[in-house]
Amino acid sequence: MAMYLLLLAQLVLTFGSTHGSNVYIVYMGEKESGIQPDLVKETHHGVLASVLGSSKEAKGSIIYSYKHGFSGFAAVLSPSQAARLADVPEVVRVLPNRILNLHTTRSWDFMHLNPAAPYGLLSTTKSGQSSIIGILDTGIWPESESFRDDNMGEIPSRWKGKCIEGEKFTKSNCNRKIIGAKWYIKGYEAENGKLNKSITIEFLSSRDATGHGTHTASTAAGSPVTNASFLNLASGIARGGASRAHLAVYKVCWATGDCSAADILAAFDDAIHDGVDVISVSLGQSPPLPAYVDDALAVGSFHAAAKGITVVCSAGNSGPFPETVINAAPWVVTVGASTIDRTFLSRIVLGNNLSLVGESLFTGKYQDKLFKIVYAEDIAASDASEGDARSCNKGSLNTTLARGNVVLCFQTRTQRMASVASDTVKSSQGVGVIFAQSLTKDTAFSFDIPCVQVDFEAGTSILSYIGTTKNPLVKFTSIRTVVGKLMAPEVAYFSSRGPSSLSPFVLKPDVVAPGVNILASWSPVLPLSTTIGPVQFNIESGTSMACPHVSAIVALLKSAHPSWSPAAIKSALVTTAYTKDDYGFDMVAEGAPYKLANPFDYGGGHVDPNKAVDPGLIFDSGLPDYIDFLCLMGYNNSAVSLMSGHQTYCQNLHKSPQNLNLPSILIPKLRKHITVARTVTNVGPAISIYKSRIEAPQGVAVSVKPEVLIFNSSVTKLNFKVVFRWKLKVQGRYTFGNLFWEDGIHFVKIPLAVRILVDDFYVDA
Ligand SMILES: *[C@@H]1O[C@H](CO)[C@@H](O)[C@H](O)[C@H]1NC(C)=O
Ligand SMILES: *[C@@H]1O[C@H](CO)[C@@H](O)[C@H](O)[C@H]1NC(C)=O
Ligand SMILES: *[C@@H]1O[C@H](CO)[C@@H](O)[C@H](O)[C@H]1NC(C)=O
Ligand SMILES: *[C@@H]1O[C@H](CO)[C@@H](O)[C@H](O)[C@H]1NC(C)=O
Ligand SMILES: *[C@@H]1O[C@H](CO)[C@@H](O)[C@H](O)[C@H]1NC(C)=O
Ligand SMILES: *[C@@H]1O[C@H](CO)[C@@H](O)[C@H](O)[C@H]1NC(C)=O
Repeated sequence: MAMYLLLLAQLVLTFGSTHGSNVYIVYMGEKESGIQPDLVKETHHGVLASVLGSSKEAKGSIIYSYKHGFSGFAAVLSPSQAARLADVPEVVRVLPNRILNLHTTRSWDFMHLNPAAPYGLLSTTKSGQSSIIGILDTGIWPESESFRDDNMGEIPSRWKGKCIEGEKFTKSNCNRKIIGAKWYIKGYEAENGKLNKSITIEFLSSRDATGHGTHTASTAAGSPVTNASFLNLASGIARGGASRAHLAVYKVCWATGDCSAADILAAFDDAIHDGVDVISVSLGQSPPLPAYVDDALAVGSFHAAAKGITVVCSAGNSGPFPETVINAAPWVVTVGASTIDRTFLSRIVLGNNLSLVGESLFTGKYQDKLFKIVYAEDIAASDASEGDARSCNKGSLNTTLARGNVVLCFQTRTQRMASVASDTVKSSQGVGVIFAQSLTKDTAFSFDIPCVQVDFEAGTSILSYIGTTKNPLVKFTSIRTVVGKLMAPEVAYFSSRGPSSLSPFVLKPDVVAPGVNILASWSPVLPLSTTIGPVQFNIESGTSMACPHVSAIVALLKSAHPSWSPAAIKSALVTTAYTKDDYGFDMVAEGAPYKLANPFDYGGGHVDPNKAVDPGLIFDSGLPDYIDFLCLMGYNNSAVSLMSGHQTYCQNLHKSPQNLNLPSILIPKLRKHITVARTVTNVGPAISIYKSRIEAPQGVAVSVKPEVLIFNSSVTKLNFKVVFRWKLKVQGRYTFGNLFWEDGIHFVKIPLAVRILVDDFYVDA
């Protein structure tokens, strides 16, 4: 099982296997409160020595001692040693390690977070001054201008983290912006052997060799950089969302794309202890998802949430297919990706003077020169299938026929990436690509030859031109960055969709945020291509890019409301998110074909930071609720105790999972009727009267009791019940609606999703 960074362009799919694993994560029983961390570590050594036979061997085998969120350790063991450890009374559980692989700035103005505005969230929080954002990623490029500390306040006195030195990274690389830097490789090396630096450039330190961590960190908390651009595209001021927040860097992923669960747990343990306010995690693993109690991200984030730290995760890049969302624990904020109102338009002119518009991120020289254009299927390699050639899949073109020409390719079910087509044409010595595909604003990079993405309609008319002309020609003209109100946000094609395959009654993703063509700082170690050298800024797409946008917003919200729990912050994000554009049209989701977006595409909707700071009502929950959730998931007492950190017996098993106090209601199996309970806390004016309004899902009758909620200075929390009753027996399809609580100022939106299952047809497994 592998975790990977959730970056689209550089998705590395190397699935580490768990067989032959030699690192085990050992969970210990209850950690007595108040016990010194050093003593905890000694206990770990003692337990391990009792199995390995000597204290010396124990010291050599242990790679991490976890002390803060929970008690436990990671050690290099043989399977038989692991089995013997599991029998030690103090040991609750022994799990094999898992390897997880790696998965602008205009976006902030787009969300109305403008530092010049005298009001709004940025002004009230002084751009996140004195917040600390922890980033679990590939490290950081500290020399990037985004990490200058000119305008930064003092390092908060509560900060307990460190700046750890390493290869090409000294204490002087930390400053008032980068206040902590740690790196974790023991789990990775115990599984994969020593990092092989002849395969890829990497630094044994917090220095970022890939760019991913630098990109996410600068998106969340980069200082403003004027005149930033990627080869003059998307130029403007680059800044992070919480541009005066501090950054704590935890490098857990390495240039190969792999991240080890043991390393990730150690980073969570440190981040919890160091005093971060938010943890931003742009990585994950592919479905099938492990049980929450077996998932390093779920375990680490659980302990962070228990300490009041919000963990924000990316939703995955496996869209547009349903049930692909990952990082779906109810205590984390799971972020999908949306487009912004910026695009990179490129014009194509055919030999007959027909002119078409496409999208491109190519800045090279070929502009305004005429080339011969050929259809990929007409120049297939003799051993290639028609479909492979049509989509310009790897190795499918005949070089003799492609050489010197522009190639027209069509997206197919099996090959949907313009970047793959571009590589194929380049290696077949073609000079350009036109890639016809379903509409998406995710523009592929093309460094060495122009690659213009067009829709199928434009692709079809180019094909018809090729078929009816003796000497078909084409030229590319210049690319323009276009910004404007014309384009509303859309859920990105690749953004993973709900419902959750693990806990379908928890709505995921929670929200969407900008994640397409995002400009941010980059690591200049590797040249992007043979014609483009290293760059300071880069444009990337992925839910990896959406996640730090929300991490920054969480830092701002936490700074505005220090007492809010992670559940309260998530509730504020979800209930204030918007689902209609400026013209009142419903948001759409990219896919084939386009469709109106629903909560499985965007959760509550698109984040709206200035609304989230004043949500009116919140749905709060805490540790006891999450423990009930784990019990309802069917985990046994020992697994639940391991998460809670103390002996826990599951009670309340009669409770319905629908009653977890979430800011959404999902009913995967409605049979006749169900009643769902919720509790809201008033965080607006003390005296407030809220009226309910229902947009019922199709086929379902919904009623709320009471219909009015009246708060005053002594009544700050109120319960209500929602009754769902089927009207139509539409078998097995989800329908969607909303419940609103409105006081005239606040519009608290609770997304509803219901699936009716008729008993006659439904066979319980
Ligand atoms: C590192 O990788 C190179 C290239 O694949 C290989 O030749 C070399 O043996 C590897 N070194 C180690 C120490 O594994
Ligand atoms: C902005 O950057 C571009 C490209 O790097 C450069 O050509 C231009 O001179 C810069 N302008 C200013 C005002 O620094
Ligand atoms: C295309 O336009 C150019 C310049 O306007 C003109 O010279 C040429 O004859 C036109 N070609 C066709 C096929 O119309
Ligand atoms: C490529 O096309 C040429 C010319 O039609 C042909 O002679 C050659 O065998 C083809 N090669 C492959 C690998 O298909
Ligand atoms: C509890 O569940 C875990 C797997 O989730 C299993 O490994 C363990 O043996 C179970 N313990 C008991 C006491 O049933
Ligand atoms: C608040 O409302 C409750 C219930 O309506 C009422 O009993 C109580 O007296 C009110 N408190 C104040 C301070 O108005």
